[in-house]
Amino acid sequence: MDRIAASTPASERNGPGAFRPVGAPVHRRRLSRLETALIARRNVLEIIPALAYRQPMVSGEMLVRWHMLADPAGMKRVMLDNLANYPKSEIMRRMLRPAIGDSLFNADGAAWKWQRQAVTPVFTHRNVVALAPAMTATAARAAARLRGTGRKCEMVREMLTATFDVICDVALSGREHFDAATFGAAISQYFRTAGRASLLDFLGFPDWFPRPGELLAGGSVRTMHQMVAAAIEARRRETAPRADDLLAHMLAAQDPETGQRMSAEDLVYNMQFFIVAGHETTALALAWSLYLLAHSPDWQDVARAQARAQLDGRAATQADLAAMPSIVQVLEEAMRLYPPVGLLARTVLAQDQLCGRALQPRDILFLPLWALHRHDMWWERPDQFDPGRFSVERRGRIDKYQYLPFGAGPRVCVGANFAMMQAQIILATLIQEFVFTPALPGPHPVMSMTVRPEPGVFLKVERAT
Ligand code: HEM
Repeated sequence: MDRIAASTPASERNGPGAFRPVGAPVHRRRLSRLETALIARRNVLEIIPALAYRQPMVSGEMLVRWHMLADPAGMKRVMLDNLANYPKSEIMRRMLRPAIGDSLFNADGAAWKWQRQAVTPVFTHRNVVALAPAMTATAARAAARLRGTGRKCEMVREMLTATFDVICDVALSGREHFDAATFGAAISQYFRTAGRASLLDFLGFPDWFPRPGELLAGGSVRTMHQMVAAAIEARRRETAPRADDLLAHMLAAQDPETGQRMSAEDLVYNMQFFIVAGHETTALALAWSLYLLAHSPDWQDVARAQARAQLDGRAATQADLAAMPSIVQVLEEAMRLYPPVGLLARTVLAQDQLCGRALQPRDILFLPLWALHRHDMWWERPDQFDPGRFSVERRGRIDKYQYLPFGAGPRVCVGANFAMMQAQIILATLIQEFVFTPALPGPHPVMSMTVRPEPGVFLKVERAT
């Protein structure tokens, strides 16, 4: 199979010696349906054709017609101007339904609208800032763990531990009903099984036919749901009102128009999603940032100098962030190169035009954020790690719909502020104290539900002098 590195053309322009962060393999020839199905199970990023990095839209036909859109104006039409015409694709929803039902992320139409209205106030700037001290405490614990681990560390695991720690504190006021190890093992099992695109979807098996991933994931989903339900139940039984955390806000959440509140089932599904999404995606953004910094000593020095000048040895707080602009720039650039959610899928309801091409009802529309962020037409030296793109001076040149790690429009990620705050607090705290250098070659980006560095990010971690 003729596979080449996605980054070849741009890296040639970068010149010899420039650090070329790892890309996804690209297939230059047209793949058969079976090949596509097998490849998608291994790594969704590999089904993105070479042309998708150079053209605004690529189309093809398998069982249904499909399109891959990587064009800012087209993204705006799909995510904002003609949103109602592009509901989430049933394939993706089915993969997630056993775990999160038709909660906010998976719902459409009226079921989505009322949940979104109920949840939005939970994530206002004021509420998220109130959660920042828990993030600072977790960042300090993450630094203490790294001090004790010896020199070589796998950073995805470290970052998952850190962000899970945050989510336990801010979502459930602690861990009494949560055995982090059991919950973590259930999440990994779920991602390994239900998270893999099903061969049966590509081969056109009907919806009612059970997918193996769904069956295999059953046990892990039950474990997770039982733990979340126990935490919610324990909170309901408490007589004295407790911390102002996410669960407290969710219990009080109400549709401002109708007054509707969440049922017990809605609550479990939504909390389940917040717990999983709230820590997995942010941990990946952090692990990829550390991988990039480990290979870019100059940027690492800049970030450390800013963090040291501001923090003077203590863990970062929300109030420190504005004084350390390189921290957010590194995270933004890491999510450009490695968007934790690398590809979205929608179904076309009614005929529409995108990039001058007609889309028909029932066509599948893929939104490969991965290719949009590495596109030859929209980015200068797309495969080069350059956090300076996000500096105040240069940021204005980036179209809003050209950089979409959190999506956009009414369905934009509701937890974006929360994620960015916790990621900055953790990264700044760690970078001021440690020097990170590569301990092993790799990793490779692999996407099932999220874009993970496989087999991990192995770094040498030393105290900075
Ligand atoms: C770096 C971290 C994160 C990334 C990259 C990310 C990415 C995304 C993306 C791309 C979407 C849009 C999906 C679509 O349009 O189909 C989304 C939606 C969503 N995200 Fe996040 N997310 C992150 C963190 C979080 C956190 C921390 C939470 C909550 C605690 C969260 C909750 C949600 C919810 C509820 C939605 C659905 C919103 C809706 O459909 O109205 N996310 N996220």
